[in-house]
Amino acid sequence: VTGEGPRPPRYLDALLADFARPGAPRHNHLGHWDDPDAAQPGSHRAAQDRMVEVVADLAGIGAEHVVVDVGCGFAGTLAWLARQGRARSLVGIDVDGRQLAADRALCAGLPGAPALVQGDGSQLPLGPATVDRVLAIEVLWHLPSRAGFFRDVRRVLRPGGRVAVVDLLLVADAADRAGVEPAALAAELREGFDPWPEVGATLDDVLATADAAGLRLVGHVDATEATLPTYHDHGDADERPGAAAFSSSSSVARFVSLQHEGLLRIHYLAFELAA
Ligand SMILES: C[S@@+](CC[C@H](N)C(=O)[O-])C[C@H]1O[C@@H](n2cnc3c(N)ncnc32)[C@H](O)[C@@H]1O
Repeated sequence: VTGEGPRPPRYLDALLADFARPGAPRHNHLGHWDDPDAAQPGSHRAAQDRMVEVVADLAGIGAEHVVVDVGCGFAGTLAWLARQGRARSLVGIDVDGRQLAADRALCAGLPGAPALVQGDGSQLPLGPATVDRVLAIEVLWHLPSRAGFFRDVRRVLRPGGRVAVVDLLLVADAADRAGVEPAALAAELREGFDPWPEVGATLDDVLATADAAGLRLVGHVDATEATLPTYHDHGDADERPGAAAFSSSSSVARFVSLQHEGLLRIHYLAFELAA
């Protein structure tokens, strides 16, 4: 994607080579531990699958559904859903052609051979009322606007359809409580995670935005605690040199400390379009 349109997050440049390694995990999201205090070494991959399972359940995904994964990345969610036989058909959309190119061989070999389309999450390349379920796992923070995303999701969903998202949201007074100026905090986070246009958006903002698009909240999990073991030492830094280098940046350190302090919260949200 070129010009003024949305562009992939810069941190992907450092991660592409990690994901290209044979046998590399395909999820590029936090893990979810039902009992975070009992998280064991080596449980990271299973915990990433578990996040997909919790979110898919929140979306009520079933074998009869046309499912679209927005910001599908390295196709980990598509692969999990396809292998579980959880959908009638699957489509992955991402703004990043490099990841989609790396996904083609995997998807061709999966049950149902999920389709892959390059596009922007707030202008979905899909017809009106064609989709039963939409997922967007750790993607909304990168989009030009959440309002654009929810408006377009409403357009593509069939009546009774659902969208489930994993969103990363600061609490309203995060900067104050962290002892930094809001603008400085935004700049520090964007240094590592850009694009993050709506860095100051809160949970209430997201709920109001979805509501304004005609989407009714039907499920909410605050997974801030459940995802914290993601930052334990999983002993696999050698296999993921790009991720290890990225994780040593001050931006990531700030992100992790905000989450530990409860100032950055991880929300799973499911919304329904009235039947
Ligand atoms: C943190 S990764 C999550 C990937 C995947 N959902 C997962 O859980 O493994 C964020 C993803 O959002 C994609 N993305 C960023 N901006 C986007 C946009 N405007 N439209 C579609 N995808 C976008 C990135 O390319 C990347 O694949």
